[in-house]
Amino acid sequence: MNLRYQTNLLDIPWERIPQLLKAVGMSFTDVEKHKISFETSYSTIFVFDDDKLIGIGRLLSDGVRQSAIYDIAVDPNYQGRKIGQEIVKRLMSTTPDCNFILYASPGKEGFYKKMNFKKMKTGMALFTNPERMVDNGFIEE
Ligand SMILES: CC(C)(COP(=O)(O)OP(=O)(O)OC[C@H]1O[C@@H](n2cnc3c(N)ncnc32)[C@H](O)[C@@H]1OP(=O)(O)O)[C@@H](O)C(=O)NCCC(=O)NCCS
Repeated sequence: MNLRYQTNLLDIPWERIPQLLKAVGMSFTDVEKHKISFETSYSTIFVFDDDKLIGIGRLLSDGVRQSAIYDIAVDPNYQGRKIGQEIVKRLMSTTPDCNFILYASPGKEGFYKKMNFKKMKTGMALFTNPERMVDNGFIEE
């Protein structure tokens, strides 16, 4: 393995983003929308093994108070090697004075608990496809 953590958007193989999200069972959409969502994020991380994109993550933030973490995914062939943790740590280090929020995929809460995240008691969400989010175990009906 020859891992490299890239924070800028140079030469990103954008078509690989929805492939990666699909491979790990996360929601995905058009390549162009993913590209915009990374381009407009406050911080991004792309993990490569040589030329292969095997991990991603991004953070939305005002830079001083509040940050939100999205699209954390590690290629199934590379999971369990602390790459996911490293992605989250590196993203968080870009806004060290902020609060961080995220919503975990059902079953992945333990990954964030290990990083000291706590369950929110008052978290509320308004999703574009609420029925799917109910079916997938993210929200109550
Ligand atoms: C969740 C994910 C990002 C974790 O990445 P990873 O590189 O496999 O995880 P790491 O090796 O960094 O794990 C760090 C620690 O968290 C633990 N951990 C990982 N996944 C876990 C889970 N689902 N439940 C409990 N603990 C978990 C690991 O055992 C490890 O513990 P240790 O420090 O005691 O050894 C990765 O499994 C993934 O991409 N999953 C599918 C997509 C997804 O659900 N993303 C999160 C969306 S919110």
